[in-house]
Amino acid sequence: MSNKPLVAVIMGSKSDWDVMQHCKAILDEFSVANDCRVMSAHRTPQAVTEFVSTAEQRGLEVVIAAAGGAAHLAGVVAAHTTLPVLGVPMESASLKGLDSLLSTVQMPGGIPVGTLGIGKAGATNAALLAIAILANSRPELREKLKAFRKKQSDKVLAEKLP
Ligand code: RP5
Repeated sequence: MSNKPLVAVIMGSKSDWDVMQHCKAILDEFSVANDCRVMSAHRTPQAVTEFVSTAEQRGLEVVIAAAGGAAHLAGVVAAHTTLPVLGVPMESASLKGLDSLLSTVQMPGGIPVGTLGIGKAGATNAALLAIAILANSRPELREKLKAFRKKQSDKVLAEKLP
């Protein structure tokens, strides 16, 4: 697979990396080139606009955006591109991520953000969903996804209870 990033992973703060590293780990496991960055819709709005407006011409195919609290990053990203945008709500200190979830998922009609679950599961699934999107035109990725699922099933079926 090419070294040119196909998936951008943007997060609102370095404090999101503890969780979002799980997203990168899956992309790396599938050898999907990715570009992970800290960029905030409110702290660095210009940088977000520039990065996302030029994402398609740079060859990116999916953008994953993670943010917590008043989490408008994924919505702002989606406003600047027609690439698929996947939102990952970060767990927040005060409302445990319910604030992040609602502000990411409740996009008004017309500008979609495919929103995953809060935290690590959402980070992992965002990567897997991005890979599933890329797999539509890449049969080798589809095969890797099937192998990933099989390994997961085999592990569950082999579980022994005490
Ligand atoms: C959001 O605010 C970030 O995505 C992060 O989840 C949250 C807290 O950011 P920090 O104050 O830790 O930088 O923008």
